[in-house]
Amino acid sequence: MSLTVDEAGRALADPRVYADEGRLHDALALLRREAPVHRVADPPGYNPFWAITRHADVMEIERNHTIFRNAPRAILGTAEYDAMNRQRAEQGVALRTLVHMDDPDHRVVRAIGADWFRPKAMRALQDRVKELARRYVDRMVESGGACDFVQDIAVHYPLYVILSLLGLPESDFDRMLKLTQELFGGDDSDMRRGTTPEEQLNVLLDFIAYFQELTEARRAEPTDDLASAIANAQVDGRPLSDFDTVSYYVIIATAGHDTTSSTISGGLHALIEHPDQRGRLRADPALMPYAVDEMIRWVTPVKEFMRTATEDFDLRGVTIREGESVLLSYPSANRDEEVFDDPFGFDVGRDPNKHLAFGFGVHYCLGAALARMEVRAFFEELLPRLDSIELAGKPESTATTFVGGLKRLPVRYSLK
Ligand code: HEM
Repeated sequence: MSLTVDEAGRALADPRVYADEGRLHDALALLRREAPVHRVADPPGYNPFWAITRHADVMEIERNHTIFRNAPRAILGTAEYDAMNRQRAEQGVALRTLVHMDDPDHRVVRAIGADWFRPKAMRALQDRVKELARRYVDRMVESGGACDFVQDIAVHYPLYVILSLLGLPESDFDRMLKLTQELFGGDDSDMRRGTTPEEQLNVLLDFIAYFQELTEARRAEPTDDLASAIANAQVDGRPLSDFDTVSYYVIIATAGHDTTSSTISGGLHALIEHPDQRGRLRADPALMPYAVDEMIRWVTPVKEFMRTATEDFDLRGVTIREGESVLLSYPSANRDEEVFDDPFGFDVGRDPNKHLAFGFGVHYCLGAALARMEVRAFFEELLPRLDSIELAGKPESTATTFVGGLKRLPVRYSLK
């Protein structure tokens, strides 16, 4: 059945479409071809936005960050969610993480955590990450040759890495996992705690309560973890407000694992579906860094971020008016025929690979080096030990317009 451009635009505001790759990419390909800067005027339940689907246009908007600001609409939420956020901002109780901020605040606050994610800090963390990768591949062996790779393996491993970096005790990890899934799986009936904005607010309040306690502990007794660096950071000679401190934890704890676990699951799925590429990678481990970026492009776990224009801006002959919001579609940019040869082919040696899965410009993903290291460590541990692997059931994806990927990947395998 052929789609109209308007239907394709509205599909970008339908969480269910993201759970069906074929449907999503049909809509995106149509928009890229026929209406790359497209006004979605009446998405049911959502406020209007412009859908930006070309790689070059996503970059241009992100490059013009003084015109296109993250506040007040950083991600696509329902109209009800937007209204609640506006109200909370007016009351001064809105979550304000790095992705909700603009310069000058953004630059200052980003700098607090930046050193912890530089390659030097990453090298220090490498042994711990490798040890965790081994632990989870061992767990696959212990599962006796079959498991749901997402629920049994992929959701735990990146969480352990990021919470270790923050300095949280292992006994709290499961609680964090649940809260993160409730926060990020907000559109998906399997994941969410409830359907109303109030129930979602309660998830957020639980997060806040946990991290407020952590901040107090680290202020009273600093240690050498990232949580202490955040708790004791000074901006203009003053500590961060309680709200900004909690927001920092929330972005690190949440951005750091659903994204990476989706990449690992989707990456394994791609290797199962493309045995030639799996064989190629196994035969030539030097391809691993390219394979990692190809998995990240292939999965593109972050589906969108938004920006709001602070002045009129012309893009491809279309005027985006001051106050209007744009949705940057990363899955679309990463299948753009103008940039990628054979964009729908999975190629573990793809070079160049200028994907935008980590965004671009001043908000470029802070955890990109960590994410690459985690994905690489996992497959470097898994592949040499893997004799065979196949699907043992139907994979299923999360219904979300924001961050997601597979939520079930039943597999059967033989592993040393
Ligand atoms: C921001 C993707 C893993 C922390 C972002 C953005 C994207 C992204 C698209 C927004 C960029 C923009 O607006 O231009 C991903 C993907 C990951 C991943 C695809 C895994 C494959 C991580 C990890 C961390 C992390 C492991 C570690 C804590 C952050 C933070 C920001 C961010 C703190 C906000 C940066 C800012 O606004 O200045 N990420 N991310 N991410 N990411 Fe990641």
